[in-house]
Amino acid sequence: MMSSMNRREFVRTTAAVTAAGLVPLSATGSGPPARVPTSVPPLVIADLSGIQYRNGGPVSAVEKAYQLIVEGADVVDAVIAGVNIPELDPSESGVGYGGLPNADGVVQLDACCMHGPKKWAGGVAALEGVRTPSLVAKAVMEQTDHHLLVGKGAQEFARSLGFEIEADLNTERSRALWLEWKRRMDPDHFLDPKARVRHGYEIGLEMLREGLIEEAHYWGTVHCSAITPKGEIGAVTTTSGLAWKIPGRAGDSPILGAGLYVDGAVGAAGSTGRGEANLYNLSSYLIVEQLRRGAQPKDAGMDALKRIQSNTIERRLLNDRGLPRFNVRFFVLDKKGDHAGVTLYAAGETAYAVCTEHGAETRPLEPLLDGSPTD
Ligand code: GLY
Repeated sequence: MMSSMNRREFVRTTAAVTAAGLVPLSATGSGPPARVPTSVPPLVIADLSGIQYRNGGPVSAVEKAYQLIVEGADVVDAVIAGVNIPELDPSESGVGYGGLPNADGVVQLDACCMHGPKKWAGGVAALEGVRTPSLVAKAVMEQTDHHLLVGKGAQEFARSLGFEIEADLNTERSRALWLEWKRRMDPDHFLDPKARVRHGYEIGLEMLREGLIEEAHYWGTVHCSAITPKGEIGAVTTTSGLAWKIPGRAGDSPILGAGLYVDGAVGAAGSTGRGEANLYNLSSYLIVEQLRRGAQPKDAGMDALKRIQSNTIERRLLNDRGLPRFNVRFFVLDKKGDHAGVTLYAAGETAYAVCTEHGAETRPLEPLLDGSPTD
């Protein structure tokens, strides 16, 4: 840059760019400059669990995170304190304590978090015995040189930091639902491993249709992101993953760019729903890159949903209409504090959670497709 522009021109250009609320290219990597307001109204968004679950206490996840960011707490500390509420709530069977277990009846948890201003990230996958995987993800972020610890290693790391390791995170309800799934599976009759996996998924969908488990908990996940009064963005995604999954399966939630992505100069995106679709498409990264190119949060989220739809071609993943047999939702927040929630299907959860100075409320999710995944 200095070779084609003298120093005085460079300083003048940079000052003008900054005054206009733009970050120079060098600050954001490739792509056009991103708009960075110096001060924005603080805001927290989350999927519906972020307002529905209080673990018997007075506040929901979005309220807790909002309260903390207006008091000046660090943005990632705030969103994690928020999602600890549904993680610890035994009635939220999609995350943390009482999350629906894997095929062996063991609760294995995934989570990751990203810190916009510090450009830090951490995650854990297939973690057993710790009710709050988001806090272990934060410890990976803050106390190691790594971004992802998995399985036994993640558990030993948590143990070494003093986290309580419990023998079993099932509740009576999560265990009873797993036993019902086992009963329906009748594994003696499914010796072909491929047929068995497919059959397990079919039974899960059958239990959804019968209302035994909620769709939001089958791929149960909580995502929460926030922007502070200083315009700092951070986010977290936490989950017990796909119910009855093959032990060791990690979904999108612990993977940077899949179930979560934050660029502090641009915005944040997080997801709930079928993790494999986000792993294949790196959907959260795709959304943040669309924001960087100037897309509105809703349009950026819709682009990712369309990408998922066009990349879903296997017959087993399609319904009778030739459309995906699963749902995915995105929660998108940009640096100006604009936000949106989008969903592949109109049926099922129809809202997401927001907390501002006016308190916690729900806003409608924008659907890409009519009906439900199993229509
Ligand atoms: N989105 C959660 C999962 O698929 O594990």
